[in-house]
Amino acid sequence: MPMSDWPELAGEVQKRWNRNATFWDDYMGEQSNDFHNLLVRPAMDRLLDVKAGHNVLDIACGNGNFSRFLAGLGARVTAIDASSGMIDRARARSEEYPAGCSENGTANRNEESAGSIDYRVIDVTDTNALATLGTNGFDAAVSNMAVMDMAEVGPMFAAVRGLLKPGGVFVFSLAHPCFQAPYAVRYAEQVDQDGSMVQKAGMKIDRYLTPQPFEGLAIVGQPVPSLIFHRPLSVLLTLCFKAGFVLDGLEERAFDDSVEADRELSWANLKEIPPMMAMRLRRLA
Ligand SMILES: C[S@@+](CC[C@H](N)C(=O)[O-])C[C@H]1O[C@@H](n2cnc3c(N)ncnc32)[C@H](O)[C@@H]1O
Repeated sequence: MPMSDWPELAGEVQKRWNRNATFWDDYMGEQSNDFHNLLVRPAMDRLLDVKAGHNVLDIACGNGNFSRFLAGLGARVTAIDASSGMIDRARARSEEYPAGCSENGTANRNEESAGSIDYRVIDVTDTNALATLGTNGFDAAVSNMAVMDMAEVGPMFAAVRGLLKPGGVFVFSLAHPCFQAPYAVRYAEQVDQDGSMVQKAGMKIDRYLTPQPFEGLAIVGQPVPSLIFHRPLSVLLTLCFKAGFVLDGLEERAFDDSVEADRELSWANLKEIPPMMAMRLRRLA
């Protein structure tokens, strides 16, 4: 298998997310954006099926927007991110869900249905830090739109397996590697076709199979570009299978007709091309 982890870039990733944390949090705000609300959250919700009282690990939680959604469903959430700037912002927005989990991820609150969030600064490329979360304590782990931001994921998949209860699931969403491949080109064209002007929008991809880091913008205008780690599906899933997971759920989502594009090259004009996918991995016993 080709090399697909770049541990030497983990520090740089952390530095850049700290630089971008305030901008990201101001942009996403309390409600997040259409991408998250219309594509990511419904897919994740279906794949996860969280119940009140579940212990859930939110990996690379950013400003905690999905952690609060989970806590609102009554889950006891442990939310981690490598960026202390993101965790500061997440804590400030989450006062209604005070931490309620003990060190090993087990609940120490009596109310079965009261959601809680315990935020911690943990870089998942540091497996010793992940080990502080205990063993076999979580019903589920989630990670939204972050796996492609992680410099190293092989050890992380193995460590997450050990954090889950037998039969537990790791559900994650990511920028679709086929359509958000390095330097993918979005185009808009106009064709004079049979007496009418037809507008077309599409994509051109010229690299996919080779894993590679590249710089990209999660949000236009962010202070510094993000480092993005492209891994084709075969490479990513092989790492998951090697860690002891099976894949038992998958969604690919694009905007539907209810969403109006605010610019020509918006994802909302590419209704047959999913910019994201979500997968459910299940821990083999
Ligand atoms: C695109 S944001 C997604 C945030 C959040 N999950 C959401 O959906 O709003 C990516 C997040 O991944 C975090 N991240 C990147 N590499 C990480 C790592 N190795 N360990 C933990 N968090 C990491 C960044 O700090 C950033 O908060």
